[in-house]
Amino acid sequence: MPIPADAKASNALFHPFYVPVAVFIGGTSGVGQGMVEAFARYVKGRAHIIIVGRNEYAASEIIGHFPKPAAGETSDWTHEFVPCDVSLMANVRAACALIRTKVERVNFLVLTAGYSSLVSTALTSEGLDLLLAMRYYYRFVFIQELLPLVQAAQALGQDAKVMSVLGAGLGSPKRPIDLDNLGNTVKERSGRIRVAIRSMMQAWGYTDAMMAHFATRNPAIAFTHIHPGAVHTPGLRIDLDGLLTPLSWLINLILPWLSVSQDQAAEHMLYALFTGERGLFIRDRYGDVISSLEFEAPVDLRDSNETSVLNGVPMTGYGASDLGVRRIMEQTEAVTRAQ
Ligand SMILES: NC(=O)c1ccc[n+]([C@@H]2O[C@H](COP(=O)([O-])OP(=O)(O)OC[C@H]3O[C@@H](n4cnc5c(N)ncnc54)[C@H](OP(=O)(O)O)[C@@H]3O)[C@@H](O)[C@H]2O)c1
Repeated sequence: MPIPADAKASNALFHPFYVPVAVFIGGTSGVGQGMVEAFARYVKGRAHIIIVGRNEYAASEIIGHFPKPAAGETSDWTHEFVPCDVSLMANVRAACALIRTKVERVNFLVLTAGYSSLVSTALTSEGLDLLLAMRYYYRFVFIQELLPLVQAAQALGQDAKVMSVLGAGLGSPKRPIDLDNLGNTVKERSGRIRVAIRSMMQAWGYTDAMMAHFATRNPAIAFTHIHPGAVHTPGLRIDLDGLLTPLSWLINLILPWLSVSQDQAAEHMLYALFTGERGLFIRDRYGDVISSLEFEAPVDLRDSNETSVLNGVPMTGYGASDLGVRRIMEQTEAVTRAQ
């Protein structure tokens, strides 16, 4: 486990021979903000950094504090904001189309935007479970749409890395994904808290499955699903209502004392982003590898329904099965497809 000082020392070694292109979806707050700020510091501003989110004011404040390369040193850098409400997949596709007009490669695609609720069980206007849209589907669409740019970076011999910050390492053979309720819209949606918890937990296993899917198809790229642990951010809160409101007050009072700062978490997340060249990585809050798998060539997964086993290899903390990956991908591609 790298202590923050070790993670920082490791991150400080990041000196790419090229000007990196990094896209941070969710860089306007919390863990994503900590990551994009630290990234900009490590490259001394010499990068094309794109922050994606809704809050343009927060983005311009963050970008305003990035270091800027000295005049004459290099002109090959840009720091910019792309607006997008990721709850709708049409918005995500539009943002990706805009990003494709700005850059020809992406070295680092970091997905931290998220939303948690114990009481919200809405469906979006596109018919998706809102919690799954905000925690999982948007990540799939961003990766799918920007993958050619990540592949272009890899073809140039540069870093080519995709990271999803959510809930890695929580998969277990005792908790298989419910393949009869894909998208959490098949089974009856009664009991708000139960439905919300179902969505939030499904997002962890679906993200494992999605990252495994992309890793098996793109053996030369690193796909990481990581858990940030408890981090003191605006997103660290419980939103119970009604009679349970006092309980959420109490929990929300205690949570900050149990969490680390977003800057501290960001160092561990960046440590994980910079290390690990290719394959699938399931990582913990320190950036340490819980399990990982490299592929020599693209792999077609088959029909095994054994949870925490990928292509015949046991994977600690991995929440999907080979059949699960296939079924989840079929469902995801169907419901996120442009209408
Ligand atoms: N904090 C923790 O303790 C913790 C623990 C476990 C897992 N996580 C996971 O880590 C990730 C980051 O969490 P965090 O606590 O850092 O979150 P946060 O501080 O609440 O920040 C959330 C980010 O998501 C973006 N976002 C929210 N709704 C959006 C929307 N509709 N469209 C576009 N962007 C949207 C926000 O940007 P805009 O406001 O600009 O839209 C913001 O940048 C999340 O996936 C979360 O589930 C966090």
